[in-house]
Amino acid sequence: MDSKRDFLAISDLSREETAALIELAAGLKGGSVPSRGLEGKSVGLIFAKSSTRTRVSFEVGAFQLGAYPVFLSLRDIQLGRGETMRDTARVLSRYLDAIVIRTHGHAEAVELARYATRPVINGLTDLLHPCQVLADLLTIRESLGTWEGKIVAWVGDGNNVANAWIDAAGLLGFELRLACPEGYEPDRTLFERNAARTTITITEEPEEAVAGAHVVSTDVWASMGQEGDAERRRQAFQGYTVSTKLMEQADSNAIFLHCLPAHRGEEVDEAVLEGPQSRVWDEAENRLHVQKALLVMLVGRSVGR
Ligand code: CP
Ligand code: NVA
Repeated sequence: MDSKRDFLAISDLSREETAALIELAAGLKGGSVPSRGLEGKSVGLIFAKSSTRTRVSFEVGAFQLGAYPVFLSLRDIQLGRGETMRDTARVLSRYLDAIVIRTHGHAEAVELARYATRPVINGLTDLLHPCQVLADLLTIRESLGTWEGKIVAWVGDGNNVANAWIDAAGLLGFELRLACPEGYEPDRTLFERNAARTTITITEEPEEAVAGAHVVSTDVWASMGQEGDAERRRQAFQGYTVSTKLMEQADSNAIFLHCLPAHRGEEVDEAVLEGPQSRVWDEAENRLHVQKALLVMLVGRSVGR
């Protein structure tokens, strides 16, 4: 029997698998690929943090594929009262065909994947948000044709989304430039591993990162779990707002991406978020299509073997 595959990071897929997944997502979106690949299956969704896009797109995506989604808030399941991840993993694997987890420590998702006998999908941890970057890759493909040869600029916090971009750049080989204030850089280990594979630079100057870039992306200055640090972060990130003036430094056909939720006037100005270069609503929609493709690849049939 094939061993199960997890998706905790973009680099859990090969370069070819990632391209195939985005192709499949585009086919599912356009209706050229039949989409009942999970008929009779069940998908569990463990959420220890809030979510609009991830929760709804996974629930609706599973439903559209013919699967039954089971939402498992930490407020309701025994994991939230101290049952171990190891025991939770083994029990849920007896009922479900895949488990999505959104939690704090990345190690918790790793622990779930280690003991689950069903595929585990990372719906966001403090370290990585790989489903988001899959949706961003589909959005780039739609708007710019390909990510190959493109320059992606990240402006702001070196957080879970930035780390997932680093992982994707190393795997797919595009150039990534990050502008982060001192002390808010992305994960060092991920950076070093991937900087050896492609051009990834970190600067404190947003203009330097954005100059000639084809994609400009940002995210909130205080992620979930960092609310108590929000004021200090607001000070530290002064000058890191993606404004119309900053977008003018990018390629003339550059697109703007934001995983949402957005804080207008902080990490992005209203004029950029609502402007002609913004692709944020397509990007949000694309969560649905890439996650359906992911479920089909991990649960509906085997991948790359
Ligand atoms: N972008 C994203 O993951 O949004 P949610 O927190 O609403 O799921
Ligand atoms: N970096 C943000 C992403 C939210 C989708 C957070 O972790 O809160």
